[in-house]
Formats: sequence, C-alpha cells, structure tokens
Amino acid sequence: MATNDLQAAQSDLIVGIDLGTTNSLVAIVDAHGPRVLGDDDAQVMPSVVRVERDGSFVVGQAAADRMVELPERTINSVKRLMGRSIRDAQGDLAYLGYQVVEGEHDTARVRIETDDGERVYAPQELSAVILRELKQRAESALGHPVEKAVVTVPAYFDDAQRQATRDAGRLAGLEVVRIVNEPTAAALAYGIGTRGEGKSQTIAVYDLGGGTF
Ligand SMILES: Nc1ncnc2c1ncn2[C@@H]1O[C@H](COP(=O)(O)OP(=O)(O)OP(=O)(O)O)[C@@H](O)[C@H]1O
Ligand SMILES: [Mg+2]
Repeated sequence: MATNDLQAAQSDLIVGIDLGTTNSLVAIVDAHGPRVLGDDDAQVMPSVVRVERDGSFVVGQAAADRMVELPERTINSVKRLMGRSIRDAQGDLAYLGYQVVEGEHDTARVRIETDDGERVYAPQELSAVILRELKQRAESALGHPVEKAVVTVPAYFDDAQRQATRDAGRLAGLEVVRIVNEPTAAALAYGIGTRGEGKSQTIAVYDLGGGTF
C-alpha cells in the first residue's frame, strides 16, 4: 500500500470500546478477525479512576489496587452516574465510596478533596479519563493515532445516558461514530465468528455485567 493510502486507512480506522461499569476494553476487527488490544495480561482494564491530591489521575488496575485503601478518591462504577440526575442515581450512591454532590440541573457530580481545596467532576469527565487511556492503549498497540470509536452502552440507556457517553468520547479526543447496545454488539461479534456459514439462525444473548442484569 502506498504511504498516502496507508495513512488514509489508518485515520479511518474505527475501534470498538466496551465501556463497562466494572471493566473496559478496546478492540478492532482486521483481516485476522476481531481482537482486543493491549498487553496479554492487561487487555481488560478496570473502569476505575483515582484523583490524586495534586489533581492528577491514576487509571485502571493501579487505581483499582488501592480502591479499598483510598475509597474517597477512587471513582469506580462512574457509568452508574452517566447522564442521570442525582435523584435517579440515589439508589446507587450507597455502594460508592466517594462523594456525589448535586451539580447544575440536578446532575450528579463527583467531589474529591485535593491539596488546593476540592475538584468537582461531571461523570462524563471521569469516563473520558477511562476512554483516553483506552485510546492510548489502542494507539500504542497499533502504532498510529486513533480518532474514531464505536462505544457500547446497556440496552436500557436512555437518550441522556447515550449523549453523556458521546460527550465522554469527545472529551477523550474520540469521535463516537456510533453507540451500539451491548447485547447487540455481542450478537454482531457472534456473527463475525460464524461468518461464511450462511445459515440464518436465532440466538439469545444473555447480558450479565457489573451494572447490567
Ligand atoms: N458470567 C459470569 N459469572 C460470574 N461472574 C461474572 C460473570 N460475568 C461477570 N461476572 C463478574 O462481574 C464482574 C463484572 O463483569 P463485567 O466486566 O462483564 O461487567 P461490566 O462490563 O464492567 O459491566 P456492565 O456491562 O454491566 O456495564 C466480573 O469481574 C466478574 O467478577
Ligand atoms: Mg459489560
């Protein structure tokens, strides 16, 4: 392939991101079929962000490892807050070790104490930290920039939750070209795996995740 063609193919590449309540990962489909990107021992990344006292972020396994020790500055399950009002999220708050406060228009915000006082984050901003890390993992695995992604969401996500997911992508420097329901993505992946058999069949997808049942 000529260099220009190669660059065009690279910039058109769309990764798939499973942005889970507990774990997240980034994958591509290429000539070899679908594959998850990342090191062999780090393909699945805990969806956890720690905000350090200086305001910097620690993401993934390193953040999850100290979740019990630093619950008030370790944000897990931020997906439960995405695009939801503080009232709607009320039932989930008892399970979160960090402080959730009310933002403008009844939105749920995460409040973390820092050396300079406090920082208050929209769930989209914290989700963006996870997405940015996945983007970087994909870029280092592929060796070129990644700018477009399909992101999966639970089938029950409403418009506000889907929009919040798109916003998180944008904040992470990703154009979210499509939002796909998680069980639909599972069915599509099954179809890729059985491509060529040519038979029509009915499959049931059972969706069991950290936040979806
Ligand atoms: N089939 C299963 N049997 C037993 N435990 C499971 C199963 N599926 C998931 N779990 C447990 O639940 C945890 C979270 O699962 P998973 O990573 O699939 O959720 P998620 O994708 O982060 O959440 P969601 O899709 O609901 O947003 C896993 O680490 C595992 O401990
Ligand atoms: Mg899941």
